[in-house]
Amino acid sequence: MPGEDTSQKEKEFFVNIPQQTPGFFLKGAGHLEWGMKYRLARIFNPKTGRTVMIAIDHGYVQGPTTGLERIDLTIVPLMPFADALMLTRGILRAVVPPTLGKPVVMRCSGGPSILKEMSDEEIAVDIEDAIRMDVAALTCQVFIGGIHETRTVNNMAKLINTGLRYGIPTLAVTAVGKEMVRDAKYLRLACRICAELGAHFVKTYYVPEDFETIVASCPVPLIMAGGKKLPELEALTMAYRAIQEGAAGVDMGRNIFQSESPQAMLQAIGKVVHEDMKPKDAFDYYQTLKNKS
Ligand code: 5RP
Repeated sequence: MPGEDTSQKEKEFFVNIPQQTPGFFLKGAGHLEWGMKYRLARIFNPKTGRTVMIAIDHGYVQGPTTGLERIDLTIVPLMPFADALMLTRGILRAVVPPTLGKPVVMRCSGGPSILKEMSDEEIAVDIEDAIRMDVAALTCQVFIGGIHETRTVNNMAKLINTGLRYGIPTLAVTAVGKEMVRDAKYLRLACRICAELGAHFVKTYYVPEDFETIVASCPVPLIMAGGKKLPELEALTMAYRAIQEGAAGVDMGRNIFQSESPQAMLQAIGKVVHEDMKPKDAFDYYQTLKNKS
């Protein structure tokens, strides 16, 4: 079995040669069957091949996170501006109108709160329940290098295996434990493991150096995670760079719902993702919308 990759030969990611996508518009999805493609095409806009997901699943570990105290009042009005929603089944059933018509990427893991070891998770949603709610994808996070690495990778594998029976894709989220260095080398390792084990798309963090090598070495679409709240222009710049360096979209939470104007921010992110709008223009667009509201 290979251990650490100690080869002296330099790695070659061919970042200027995009992976071919025969049979479907999404990377690595050409050989999937109809149900999988149907669901992925609800999450990713077939015209741009990209997605703007809003992540509002924080309560499953954090309780009433700032900005998510009353999802019914502050977040439901934002939902029409997103391509897809990442959330828990509790919030979906209790708060989201079934008439909304947006694809759901359902958080299926749970266990520890922020007071405990975060990688100590189990799968918390049965596939039958996910099917009852007609989810477009299942999701959980993996902690590569974390205390419960194997368990979290197994959680992901279980979701992939059960989702495959019903044509439901799985999004793997690469969580970075406190003790890990968030750099391209680590994220290449984490993203590639997720894809090798069958994840249909992967959510990971943007890093300013060599992000395109993470994209190139991951054979399925990669979407950018948001992370801690940044000033709006910085968050728009980060999203712009990730897209220009090959990300197939974003899944952002705090940088949207903790913005001074979440609705304006979500729409500005949409311009960056789907129209390649430059960060400064997107920020002007954000401010114009914010001032109107
Ligand atoms: C953790 C997650 C989150 O629960 C959440 O979606 C994070 O969103 P953001 O960092 O953009 O606020 O995916 O790994």
